[in-house]
Amino acid sequence: MVSYKELGLVNTRAMFAKAVKGGYAIPAFNFNNMEQLQAIIKASAETKSPVILQVSKGARNYANQTLLRYMAEGAVQYAKELGWKRPQIVLHLDHGDSYEICKSCVQTGFSSVMIDGSALPYDENVALTKKVVRYAHRYDVTVEAELGVLAGVEDEVAAEESHYTKPEEVIDFVTKTGCDSLAISIGTSHGAYKFKPEQCTRDPKTGKLVPPPLAFDVLKQIEKKLPGFPIVLHGSSSVPQEYVDIINSHGGKLPDAVGIPEEQLRKASKSAVCKINIDSDSRLAMTAAVRKIFTDKPGEFDPRKYLGPARDEMEKLYKHKIINVLGSDGKAK
Ligand code: G3H
Ligand code: 13P
Ligand code: ZN
Repeated sequence: MVSYKELGLVNTRAMFAKAVKGGYAIPAFNFNNMEQLQAIIKASAETKSPVILQVSKGARNYANQTLLRYMAEGAVQYAKELGWKRPQIVLHLDHGDSYEICKSCVQTGFSSVMIDGSALPYDENVALTKKVVRYAHRYDVTVEAELGVLAGVEDEVAAEESHYTKPEEVIDFVTKTGCDSLAISIGTSHGAYKFKPEQCTRDPKTGKLVPPPLAFDVLKQIEKKLPGFPIVLHGSSSVPQEYVDIINSHGGKLPDAVGIPEEQLRKASKSAVCKINIDSDSRLAMTAAVRKIFTDKPGEFDPRKYLGPARDEMEKLYKHKIINVLGSDGKAK
């Protein structure tokens, strides 16, 4: 058993309480490789922003859970080396799908876990979440749960039954499970295609797709039911069109990729939403930088010469999110 406290990591409890009160959100960035982690830590250290490092099932399969855990331990030391005296870094399991995975993460130094029972019938989601909470809390590890299905607006319109989180269920769910934060569904979804073109309008000047708004009315009702309780938004990449354009003009093919507009995330950050998950935007930044270098310098074959600029681009992106979208800069001095 390795406690996250020995690794210099923190759980989400105090961080979320401060964020809800202060009207900002903590960035939760996924990582599965060294360049992403370096960029996340540099951006967080230089802006003094608390940060959540997320490890998904895919990341665990790709890079190995143990290695990722040691990378996070190294990240704390790297942050200190960069002059961040008291780094506030959380190592979080993203979309844990079983009690066993959560338990293994708690035992190996994760400070926070998500148990995602959102696809299960309500009572089974409650039972599984409760079991994970009981175990994790013994070690002061915080637990994120999910209620509602992240289907996105396009499925919401087509579906006979709403996928959004039902505000009438949240008090019962949070009380019965004892979870520390709740991921809700209000129209966001994972990946770079969050809305179908027919769900969007077109900006007459640029011809770009303009997505429909998130269900802020649902968020408001949830906030009313759970005053001050930490809410989480998954699927919150904005899919920056400048990256999509670079990718598409350098041999890539991402037609009609569209994300959540930043002004909507800014609005959400000021509410009880205190954790915003971003993964796809980092993938786009990295891919755009690498594609450009491969086109501009076809003779380049030293990975540092294309992964280095990709890392710089991701750092720029993370800083932008922290300062201009989530407002978490300066909150972990
Ligand atoms: O939840 C989705 C995250 O972006 C992780 O994606 O499972 O491909 O690592 P992944
Ligand atoms: P994006 O695909 O919008 O980046 O969402 C990431 C996420 O929710 C990770 O859990
Ligand atoms: Zn997610």
